[in-house]
Amino acid sequence: MAERMNNTIETASKQGNIVYAYDDPDKLNKVIYEEAKRRGLFNGSQEEFWDMQNALYREGNRVYDESMGDIQESGLTKREIYSFVQTIGIDLPSILKLLGKEEINRLRRLEKARFVFLGCAGDVSAAEFNKISKKLNSNSEEILTNLQHEELKTIDKSRGQLLVRGDVFNLPYKEDTADLICTDHLLVRLLKMGKVGDKDRPEIVKVSTTDENIQRVLGESYKILKPGGSLIMVEQLFGEAKEQYLKRKQAPTFEIMEINRGSLRKKMEDQVRKLAGAVGFSQVIFSDYYSYCFRADSASAKIEEDGTPDYGEVLVQRDDKIYLVARLVK
Ligand SMILES: C[S@@+](CC[C@H](N)C(=O)[O-])C[C@H]1O[C@@H](n2cnc3c(N)ncnc32)[C@H](O)[C@@H]1O
Repeated sequence: MAERMNNTIETASKQGNIVYAYDDPDKLNKVIYEEAKRRGLFNGSQEEFWDMQNALYREGNRVYDESMGDIQESGLTKREIYSFVQTIGIDLPSILKLLGKEEINRLRRLEKARFVFLGCAGDVSAAEFNKISKKLNSNSEEILTNLQHEELKTIDKSRGQLLVRGDVFNLPYKEDTADLICTDHLLVRLLKMGKVGDKDRPEIVKVSTTDENIQRVLGESYKILKPGGSLIMVEQLFGEAKEQYLKRKQAPTFEIMEINRGSLRKKMEDQVRKLAGAVGFSQVIFSDYYSYCFRADSASAKIEEDGTPDYGEVLVQRDDKIYLVARLVK
């Protein structure tokens, strides 16, 4: 497997992108497999491909743990796992597309840009954020914030990103200092400092995405953003939409089939629009969700002279309505 991985890494950077928009995950998976094969990234069967993907996701997820010791289960090193995930692609939104030409131009002209990633858990995301940030502004300063120190420890320091143990409920940054803030699946595992059992070791507890909690996170982001700056949010099922989804999942099968995913997204959008307005954001822009494979944003996408993001001929897109993708402008 490791040998196959090396071939993958070697050839990956030479590849372009591909566009597909399918609501059917099985069909999409097949398309990705066929494309990986066509590009010579993988030569095995479809089953082998997905076995490998699953193994990688399983192992890759352990990046969140400190216990990386037994990561060799699939015969891959940590670096190989990262490389594969970044090559074939993970569920990455398109930040460039969401920012758009005008905002890209504004950011690229800044003498010193400060980009903040809230809830950056591991090295894959940190590396992607670094590449995207540098595309936007080669002079960018990137700040990765996480409440959990153990997760920050998994991030490679050699990229020069600032790693800050900070709480999104009480961000340790000055007002009006960030040019761009990003979240990626922050709300699905929103944590808070819990009750102080022992004064020196307050517990970290998982909290739900109530209006109050979301408003606080939006308010803190608003506070540290410079006027005109954006908060980019990519979030999967939260708040009432999540409750509705879970309730329906417990319903008889025929009802599950009828889950109207569009209405779930609308619920999340309504919630965010209301709360963003309450904390002062002047503009809220929503987008469909696309997951970009073959490293669209970080590797293949180019920014044209005039600021237009160019994804080449093709990208893999999956519009999944259990995601909310938003740009909130201060
Ligand atoms: C589901 S993970 C998101 C994955 C992440 N975007 C990545 O880089 O791979 C949610 C992350 O948000 C962090 N987080 C949750 N609540 C937080 C808070 N109050 N302050 C700072 N970080 C928080 C968690 O520690 C976790 O790393």
